[in-house]
Order: sequence, then structure tokens, then C-alpha cells
Amino acid sequence: MHILVLHGPNLNLLGVREPQVYGRLTLDDVRQRLDALASELGVRLSHHQDNSEGGLIDRIHAAMGQCDGVVFNPGGYTHTSVALRDALSGTGLPFVEVHLSNVHAREPFRHKSLLAPVAVGQVAGFGVESYTLGLRGLVEWLRQRSP
Ligand code: DQA
Repeated sequence: MHILVLHGPNLNLLGVREPQVYGRLTLDDVRQRLDALASELGVRLSHHQDNSEGGLIDRIHAAMGQCDGVVFNPGGYTHTSVALRDALSGTGLPFVEVHLSNVHAREPFRHKSLLAPVAVGQVAGFGVESYTLGLRGLVEWLRQRSP
């Protein structure tokens, strides 16, 4: 099983960006944590971060037929991007939406996700564990559906 871990805009700044909200771990730390979990679960990961909507859409398209699902932190595009939702729906790739912070406890504009209605599920508020929980959930979901 091959899973794409996708990070949206500004997540390259993890560790220095608003640490009171997002913590001190860097994107590389997140990657290492997920790689360790992936070998425990027996799955393969590809990682990608992009600050642009088009770059994220291209990566999702490229994952079609290559990956079984996506663990996706869409960053600020969560709340705005019809195009990303269409890319995910259009490829049919199952995905879990993850957020480091509890978006529902923050500003009202973060309460709405355009992607969550087409996701397998959403995990928010657990810092790096949102990613590990999302990966575990997605792998289990896919395994239950594989013949
Ligand atoms: C975020 C939450 C978004 O609202 C924000 O724009 C981000 C990060 C999170 O991981 O908590 O960039 O996706």
C-alpha cells in the first residue's frame, strides 16, 4: 500500500511559524515520525509540500494510479479551495484531512472545510498526532476495503 502525505501552504515553516499554535516540530520531524509509523504498519509513503494550489492539484493528479490514498493537510486552502476539492473528487483518491490545530476552536473562517465533505474523515487538534492518527485511520479504512 502506497500513501501520499501532502502538505499545503506555509507548512514548510513548521517549527518557526506561530509555535504557540502549531508547536515546535518541523516538517522534517513530521516526516520522520510518519516514516517510522509507516514501517510499523507495512506501508510505503511519499511526501510532498507545496505552497501553490496548482502544485497541489498536479501532485494529486500524479498520484492517480500510483497511490492508494492521501493524508492531506491543505493548510489555508482547506477553507477556500473548490479546485482542490474537485481534484480529490475527480481522481477518486480516498483521503483523510488533517490539521495540527483544532480549526473548530479558532476563528470562524477556519470552521468551514470545503474538502471535509468528500474526505474519508478529518483529524484536527492533536499536533503531529493528527497525522499519525490520520495515517492509521486511512490504512485501516483501505485494508477493510481491499479484496
Ligand atoms: C492548519 C489550519 C489552517 O486553518 C491553517 O491555515 C494552516 C494550518 C493546521 O494544520 O492546523 O495553515 O491546516
